[in-house]
Amino acid sequence: MLNLGFDWSFLLNQFVRSDFLANKTVYQALQLNKFVLSLLHKLTMAQLRPLLVSNVGSQGQQQQMLANTSRIWAAREELLETDWQEAIAGIYPKALLFDDPWVEFLRQYPWLWLEMPEIWARMQRGDVRAFDADIDLSKYPSYYRQNFHHQTNGYLSDRSADLYDLQVETLFGGLAEPMRRRVLRPLKDALNSFPQTQTQSLKVLDAPCGTGSALAMLQTALPKVKFSGLDLSPNYLKKAGDRLREKFGTAPDLTQGAVENLPYADGEFHGITSIFFFHELPAPVRQQAIAEYFRVLKPQGTLVINDSIQAGDRPTLTPMMMGFPEMFHEPYYRNYLEDDLVERLAKAGFVNIRTEVHYFSKIWIAEKPLA
Ligand SMILES: C[S@@+](CC[C@H](N)C(=O)[O-])C[C@H]1O[C@@H](n2cnc3c(N)ncnc32)[C@H](O)[C@@H]1O
Repeated sequence: MLNLGFDWSFLLNQFVRSDFLANKTVYQALQLNKFVLSLLHKLTMAQLRPLLVSNVGSQGQQQQMLANTSRIWAAREELLETDWQEAIAGIYPKALLFDDPWVEFLRQYPWLWLEMPEIWARMQRGDVRAFDADIDLSKYPSYYRQNFHHQTNGYLSDRSADLYDLQVETLFGGLAEPMRRRVLRPLKDALNSFPQTQTQSLKVLDAPCGTGSALAMLQTALPKVKFSGLDLSPNYLKKAGDRLREKFGTAPDLTQGAVENLPYADGEFHGITSIFFFHELPAPVRQQAIAEYFRVLKPQGTLVINDSIQAGDRPTLTPMMMGFPEMFHEPYYRNYLEDDLVERLAKAGFVNIRTEVHYFSKIWIAEKPLA
């Protein structure tokens, strides 16, 4: 319908990225636009849901959110300021700030609604392990065979992969990308600890890479580095490959596999990024995943984890975070909120471990020692 012979997506991106438009006011306006759209979506959903199903939804969480509006807004402003300042400082191209796939979002938006009645019906039944009969679940660990976020077929369908980015942006009020970008500064700093290595020989793994959002951002910011991506979902990997080929003409090495059993040699990577992942793992698998990251990193290599803030990082928001898994099926989230990842990283052998908090995301930066 939108394709009238023009590549609208390309034209729109060129227009928004032009120097004339790529200024702070336009960036803030775009972000506000995303925030308002996602708020309208959530409000419509909250109105419609009780008409179709009962016993679904969390009034409590909404009230806590309203009670904390000013704090959340202040944290949002801080995140956007950091995002803008780091772009101005040249840590990544300013163009990244204007890189939203609006046309793709528009294309997917009706599907978000078409899926909703089925999702609500599953939520009402308490059914969190519903998969189409033709999906071979035996290949996946049992903790993974669930409808995370109540997504239809969990992570195991093309439709789920198509809707994922829009769902995440809607959930975070358009701030998923600014939060993901927080890995760029520590990663770039970390790669500087290999001054003898030519940039073309630097290797970075993004695992799990999902639909490739972070790989697209990483490759834009560090065009000469060799990236690899890994994920358990073949559908998400396919989406990542399509997206990266469309954007860069070629895709990095993308492998299906589990982070807790990485199919790479010891000491293969100079850097690793892990985004929005640990809260989806049972505690023992978190430790195994960290051990594997440690194994495949080179000595002096750095792991940058980016995931949800935890209990105590923003104390007034902790009750709201505790309520989050009620609405979005996140079976390991409450345990994650209390988990000490610094201790887990140290246990695996990592040193010089630092943390940062940006809006609803938290960063752990950890180095593998020389010996
Ligand atoms: C919330 S998504 C995050 C994806 C991506 N990092 C991002 O920034 O959007 C979680 C991803 O982890 C993948 N995943 C979950 N458990 C995994 C595991 N043990 N090994 C590899 N991938 C896994 C899922 O398939 C999904 O793509």
